[in-house]
Amino acid sequence: MVDRRHLIEAGLAGGGALLATSLAPASARGAAMQVPSLSTLAKQRGILFGTAIGPLVATSQSYREVVVADAGLVVPEYEMKWRFIEKTQGVYDFSAVDRRLAFAQQNGMAFRGHTLVWHQSLPDWLPNAINPGNGRQLLTRHINAVAGRYKGKLHSWDVVNEAIDISPAGVGGLRNTTWLQNVGPDYIQIAFEAAAAADPGAMLVYNDYGLIYASGGGDMKRAATLRMLERLVSRGVPVHALGLQGHIEAPIRNFDPNVLSRFCNDVAALGLKIMITEIDVSDQYAPADIAVRDALVAEAYQAILGCVLAVPATVAAVTWGLSDIHSWLATYRPRKDGLQVRPLLYTDGMQKKPAWEAVASALRG
Ligand code: XIL
Repeated sequence: MVDRRHLIEAGLAGGGALLATSLAPASARGAAMQVPSLSTLAKQRGILFGTAIGPLVATSQSYREVVVADAGLVVPEYEMKWRFIEKTQGVYDFSAVDRRLAFAQQNGMAFRGHTLVWHQSLPDWLPNAINPGNGRQLLTRHINAVAGRYKGKLHSWDVVNEAIDISPAGVGGLRNTTWLQNVGPDYIQIAFEAAAAADPGAMLVYNDYGLIYASGGGDMKRAATLRMLERLVSRGVPVHALGLQGHIEAPIRNFDPNVLSRFCNDVAALGLKIMITEIDVSDQYAPADIAVRDALVAEAYQAILGCVLAVPATVAAVTWGLSDIHSWLATYRPRKDGLQVRPLLYTDGMQKKPAWEAVASALRG
């Protein structure tokens, strides 16, 4: 008779572990075999956990399985951005987005739109086509075409992305974008009203970065963002949530959970929900040692999610990718030593990292 205890204590990997659990009592066997997914843990808290997706869900079975296992919501990383939707003026290509939406629907996932109005990822033809006489029409036509196509199918839209700029380059606290120049400061209100008309059922989100750290700049950007949201709400503009881009660094620094949660609760006091969007943890300046780096990255996930998930108004937590096999940070925040960046929850071989455990722990509360 094989000694069950010996097998389990021997910690035999792979088949041994399977054998050990198959010898375990049914209750333990069930528990051992069913580690709750991140989407399950999130749903148990009444929120959604998800991630950004792209072509990898179609080209990599192992990546697709990880997304299906852990994501209760997905958002296209770039395929819904204007430069991918309307490369030639008046010629729309929704094929990639339709495939991502079909993937979400087939797997019972909620779907986010990102993003209707941004100063980046604009089509090459736009700068020469837009002027103060047609800016509003170009903006609302885009919103009607894109948000209208997916009417009733989306959980939420990032309607306006990164409009606040507190630097000297900003104009009255707004980023000096083609939208400010050719539509005017009311472009944000116009965008939200157009999005609400095109898709009345979607939660409409203002999304921005630089709102997390307890630094002077963070304080100024949080104040400017709150003032803008107060103005929109006081005018009855259909804005429903603030999206906090969760692009942070390891080791986490300049982070005071009291500062961030106070800001989130101030936003919630306007009647708005909170989403932490685009979470990833850059290890660009972390030590080279993988175990040390992975631990620091995990600590950063734990710190940021531990704070934001404690805010009652928080409805979703979204990472900007799930596996180190693909992260925009490999291009945008590469390490000087040339080592592969490790900002996400799974290795490029789809093994769970300490960051996965940290997110699971934060979701458990
Ligand atoms: C990034 C994508 O991850 C990249 O693939 C793309 O080249 C540029 O945009 N804030 C945002 C996201 O709102 O849309 C950006 O995504 C990352 C910063």
